[in-house]
Amino acid sequence: MPTTTECRVCAGTVREFFDFGRQPLSDAFRLPDSTDEEFFFRLAVGACDACTMVQLMEEVPRERMFHEDYPYLSSGSAGMRNHFEAVAKRFLTSELTGEDPFTVEIGCNDGVMLKTIADAGQRHLGVEPSGGVADIAASLGVDVRKDFFEEETAARIIDRSGHADVVFSANTFCHIPYIGSVLRGVEALLSPRGVFVFEDPYFGDIVDKTSYDQVYDEHFFLFTVTSVRTMASRFGLELVDVERIPVHGGELRYTLARAGAREPSAAVAAMLAEEAERGLASQETLRGFGESVRRSRERLLALLRRLRAEGRRVVGYGATAKSATVVNFCGIDEGLIEFVTDTTPAKQGRLTPGGHIPVRGPEAFSDPYPDYALLFAWNHSEEIMAKERAFRDSGGHWIGYVPEVRVL
Ligand code: SAH
Ligand code: TYD
Ligand code: ZN
Repeated sequence: MPTTTECRVCAGTVREFFDFGRQPLSDAFRLPDSTDEEFFFRLAVGACDACTMVQLMEEVPRERMFHEDYPYLSSGSAGMRNHFEAVAKRFLTSELTGEDPFTVEIGCNDGVMLKTIADAGQRHLGVEPSGGVADIAASLGVDVRKDFFEEETAARIIDRSGHADVVFSANTFCHIPYIGSVLRGVEALLSPRGVFVFEDPYFGDIVDKTSYDQVYDEHFFLFTVTSVRTMASRFGLELVDVERIPVHGGELRYTLARAGAREPSAAVAAMLAEEAERGLASQETLRGFGESVRRSRERLLALLRRLRAEGRRVVGYGATAKSATVVNFCGIDEGLIEFVTDTTPAKQGRLTPGGHIPVRGPEAFSDPYPDYALLFAWNHSEEIMAKERAFRDSGGHWIGYVPEVRVL
């Protein structure tokens, strides 16, 4: 078990700071009668000595994660639908007001963001390797290229459609270990004043909230402002803006431009200072995170075991990719959680990866309501609490584990 590896950004030494052990693919929901051997890998995170980038110690081959049957649908929550509509509208009134603007999205999934750009009649292209979700985007009138974005993809897009005013990527850029190839591609693809805007979970929030379930196969990098700024500068790009966004439990939206093309905003300097002051990349912070993760596991297991001993029914709410880390790191099984309810058709009737807990549709949740529901989709808690008032009215209780294990 090597505890160092080579940084995917700068080739420096990445030192491991936490090992979650053997983990399955977070989005590989199994058919109950499947006899296929399940894929496992060692999920561990480290930070680079040189550039501070937090990253996984082992890479999962991309075709194992992103393929025809990739089940995640970006439109699966009203909150995210609204968020991406707002993102698109903001681009339409800011970056996309010139003559015949062109937008490229890396990882457009079911077209949740690009649909608004397409409806505005503007040129756009979604690059999306997962065939099933790409087909949904295409059916909505979104132009899609079924492919992994990397340097060669960018070259082909330039040949065909020219340079892009906006390259956008949400919850995808951090999924890509071959980040140098992507950044060379983006740098080539951007028009002189074009911007690369990406949104991903913020490591600062992960540490603050002990939201260790943000660590799983698909989340290869956990970005900070400090590490992103250094990374951008290695590829002729510059971090010119950063914004906190409240989705998915705490994310940052980073804006990169060609070096020297735009003046960096005050927010960049402010966030850099904040990260330095709190020691976000320090050994102490990383060690403290590991201790909080272990404590969280102990408390969650103690609570679930107590409820089982008392004969309570507990189900999981939201068969999230994130929950694979919780279920498998804590060793939660069908004895502790009866089933997990989820609205995604491609997950229903299947078993969760690793833990093999059955996934059922929303109708199973109220038939009859359980005593407790463990909120795996905690990042959508407002939307879910509002939708499921009848659960609480029936005497049911929510269990949360971010930022700490508690009955809500
Ligand atoms: N942007 C959406 C999708 C996030 S899921 C949202 O925020 O909800 C991540 C998506 O990235 C998946 O649909 C996956 O197929 C896609 N993806 C993974 N690697 C990619 C790559 N190299 N280029 C483009 N898309 C990629
Ligand atoms: P999400 O937290 O967005 O992402 P990830 O899988 O990357 O961790 O996943 C939310 C999951 O929860 C998705 O499978 C849909 C499901 N869900 C429900 O079942 N009901 C709901 O009301 C909402 C908002 C989501
Ligand atoms: Zn590095």
